[in-house]
Amino acid sequence: MKIAFFNAKPYEIEFFKKANLTDGHQICYFEMRLTEQTVELARGHEAICTFVNDVLGRSLLERLSQLGVKLVALRSAGYNQVDLVAAREFKISVVRVPAYSPYAVAEHAVALLLTLNRKTHRAHNRVREGNFSLEGLLGFDLHGMTVGIVGTGKIGLCFAEIMKGFQCRILAFDPNPNPEAIKRGVEYVGWEEFLEKSSIISLHCPLLPQTHYIINAKAIEKMQKGVVLLNTSRGGLVETTAVIEGLKSGKIGYLGIDVYEEESALFFDDHSGEVIQDDLLARLMTFPNVLITGHQAFFTEQALENIAMTTLSNVTEFERQGSCRNQVGVE
Ligand code: NAI
Repeated sequence: MKIAFFNAKPYEIEFFKKANLTDGHQICYFEMRLTEQTVELARGHEAICTFVNDVLGRSLLERLSQLGVKLVALRSAGYNQVDLVAAREFKISVVRVPAYSPYAVAEHAVALLLTLNRKTHRAHNRVREGNFSLEGLLGFDLHGMTVGIVGTGKIGLCFAEIMKGFQCRILAFDPNPNPEAIKRGVEYVGWEEFLEKSSIISLHCPLLPQTHYIINAKAIEKMQKGVVLLNTSRGGLVETTAVIEGLKSGKIGYLGIDVYEEESALFFDDHSGEVIQDDLLARLMTFPNVLITGHQAFFTEQALENIAMTTLSNVTEFERQGSCRNQVGVE
């Protein structure tokens, strides 16, 4: 199939070129994101390939269908960025990569936690300047702490297993309890009990209308003072203004985020020479107990290899059968 590949980064092109030795598609790599201004590049392609921050709203999908596009191949697991109702209306199928490395994301959540707790980022900078003072670097033992996980699917379960290794007690909130998690000693509780009893909370559920702002002022109010909040899932799960208030009052002791609700304007590109116009993100960056990474939790060699292989085999399956097992649609 002819595929217009938007938002292409050199690090992923390498993996896609290798995977395409098997699938043999004709891929045009475009550096630009998919927007109203760049959509014309899709002309002459039956499929487009996009990433998490290429937002596919109704008007873009309508234009894509006029240009002859039949398939959107997402190289992501999440698909909240696509208007699936409009995709169905314009007869565009949407496929995704449901799992590529749950370990990558869970391990990054742990990296955020360990860095926030033991302040290795600050210690590293100090030591390089010849400052060996321990002032301000005090951490806490993870051993014996209660860790709360929102969403115990593939990534949440990996995170639970790692935290079990630290001998933490694991609580979970998920409308669909995972039998594997129960087998491994994860305890499912109601939302209020979850918020009250967890010293560390890590988000691993998808962004859905029901989970939008699941962490809001009301939820923060119920949390323990000094709670550690981690979000490696989707920015829209967290109401940033409420979290800023929680940090200012000391209710939230640490915040580690790999995703941010307004990330699409900034993440994945170098803005180091510009003035950041997003005042909420700028405020978050001023807190000493906040650690932000730019949506890199997925970014491991194994994950990139799996993303490339599954994305291209999704396109091949769609081309041969007119459908694909990794298709997403409106429920
Ligand atoms: P999954 O589908 O295996 O698990 C999601 C879990 O969330 C399921 O157990 C589901 O029952 C649960 N859930 C659904 N609604 C819920 C609710 N209202 N409250 C609590 N739990 C709820 O998904 P997986 O693979 O574990 O991925 C989780 C999320 O991680 C993805 O949706 C995506 O947003 C995010 N992600 C982030 C990446 C990054 O680089 N930062 C990379 C990949 C995924």
